[in-house]
Amino acid sequence: MSKAHRVAVAVLAASALLVPGAQPAQAGASRQATTGPAATDRSGYHVLTLRRAAPRDLRIGTAAAGGGHHVDQPYPDPFTYDQPYRRVLAHEFNSVSPENQMKWEFIHPERHTYNFGPADAIVKFARRHGQVVRGHTLLWHSQNPAWLQDGQFTKDELRAILKEHIVTVVGHYRGKIQQWDVANEILNENGEYRQENIFIRELGPGIVADAFRWAHQADPKAQLFLNDYGVEWPGAKVDAYEALAKQLLADRVPLRGFASQAHLSTRYGAPDQLAAVLQRFDALGLHTAITELDVRMDLPESGVPTAEQLQTQATYYKTVLDACLAVAGCNSFTIWGFTDKYSWVPVFFPSEGAATVMWDDFGRKPAYYALRNTLAAAHWGR
Ligand code: G3I
Repeated sequence: MSKAHRVAVAVLAASALLVPGAQPAQAGASRQATTGPAATDRSGYHVLTLRRAAPRDLRIGTAAAGGGHHVDQPYPDPFTYDQPYRRVLAHEFNSVSPENQMKWEFIHPERHTYNFGPADAIVKFARRHGQVVRGHTLLWHSQNPAWLQDGQFTKDELRAILKEHIVTVVGHYRGKIQQWDVANEILNENGEYRQENIFIRELGPGIVADAFRWAHQADPKAQLFLNDYGVEWPGAKVDAYEALAKQLLADRVPLRGFASQAHLSTRYGAPDQLAAVLQRFDALGLHTAITELDVRMDLPESGVPTAEQLQTQATYYKTVLDACLAVAGCNSFTIWGFTDKYSWVPVFFPSEGAATVMWDDFGRKPAYYALRNTLAAAHWGR
């Protein structure tokens, strides 16, 4: 056990971070399905958590809710103000990804203004609770500020702006970020470069390699990742990422990992070929990771999923975790939020929801227990 790990365990044991036993907020047959193994102490607090159940060589993460769709919701910033939420976040996870707080529009709102406060708070929280941080994200087509998207910059200026952003942001967190999603969603489903990405469109695909090089210069120890959705099954997109990864490595670009976001829906099949996909990148010597897992479903009129739907969802979560556990270099497994209370899913997919592993009141769903039991049965070194 490393010193940092020992300290983390001691802090957790001594603190009041234990989470009250989950009580379903709504009555109903389907909610009965949420009860799993007791795993509580005499005061009714859960003692076995995801992070404690996990093998030492696998980080268990979640997004820290804030910014983005939360801004329009009738609640204050979740990460800052929801104390029960923060307790579960600290207790269950040993990796944290800022959901929106490190994206361009948030952290670099004006050309000469950086807003590090909200992301700094997450990094500080993570250090206090023995958690690593996944930085998200540096080169993306979405959530860029208007000054950037609508600015009339020459190619040289745009390149200088990207370099300054990466050097400044990655440098600000030097030594504090385990993994950076350097390039996010840069390819479309046909494996072509996304032209919505202003940097790729204006500067060409070679800018991807530069982004990795600048990030590496700013923080040589951070593991630098390609990150995307729609790569859970083999196909044109995976082929293109594999070719890109090979090229970057051949060019000695400091690429260290490939990640599957894994935003899933029960409308489609479970990703039963994910392990084989991850293995292709493992074979290149890269780390792999699951970075944004959630499993949405079509909600019945009642808004409450049936027991069968919850079991199906649990199977999907387990399939993804099993895939990661089956690949030696898969060192990070992150779910995109842990409670339906703050999920992005209903905002984007109005008839769908219940995508996370906990109800609004942090009561645990079958998916939570599927993850915990699977982690508990896994071994270090795998
Ligand atoms: O920027 C507009 C603003 O102009 C407008 O007034 C406002 C009106 O609702 O919307 C603003 O856009 C919001 C955006 O965040 C920026 O703040 C969207 O409504 C909001 O839905 C969006 O949400 C975030 C989303 O990324 C954006 O793509 C979510 O909070 C966040 O969970 C989600 O996370 C992404 C990962 O970063 C990458 N992978 C996919 C994942 C899920 O979409």
